[in-house]
Amino acid sequence: MYHSGIESPRGVWWKPIHGSEKIWVGIAFAWCMVLFAMMPLWHLRGGQNPSGIRYRVEPEAYRARVAEFVKQYQVGSDRGIPIVEPPPGSDVYLQASMWSWMPVLRLREGARYTLHLSSLDVNHGFSLFPLNVNFQVVPGYDYGLVVTPTASGEFEIMCNEFCGVGHHLMVGKVIVLPREQAAAEPAVRTAAAEGGAR
Ligand code: CUA
Repeated sequence: MYHSGIESPRGVWWKPIHGSEKIWVGIAFAWCMVLFAMMPLWHLRGGQNPSGIRYRVEPEAYRARVAEFVKQYQVGSDRGIPIVEPPPGSDVYLQASMWSWMPVLRLREGARYTLHLSSLDVNHGFSLFPLNVNFQVVPGYDYGLVVTPTASGEFEIMCNEFCGVGHHLMVGKVIVLPREQAAAEPAVRTAAAEGGAR
């Protein structure tokens, strides 16, 4: 007998759908709907995919904004990268470029900040280690996120978007002061007091 994928078989070759198969299709469809509903639900209730504030920004304008931010709140430096301690509630700027994160941020546990992320050159990936926090850092866009650190300590910012030969060296730092220490110390220290030691 001759068979071809182009010509359909003659006669009634199919059997009507079985009852149990109907049930499976029903279960699969219902589960699809559950997962579909989870997307907006996670967004609104789970805090999984935070909606940021987005602006278009020229890389040069962003560089200038970061420089101004560093000048305003610098308290020291870490291997040539300024350490910046902005007051709680303020706008915080982080700049990604091949192949560094600038500046080192010193934040307070429990305080709210608006964290701005942008790149001066190519796409980079903001990944807060060892926490599982990931964002794309895109040139031409300022991505603002409202954040409240809930744990203290030192966290590394890894670049998780391949950005050239220095990609693996692109590591930054966020320091979160514990609640008690933050309350005991003055809000902004001078660069002289810090001595640029850490
Ligand atoms: Cu920046 Cu990889």
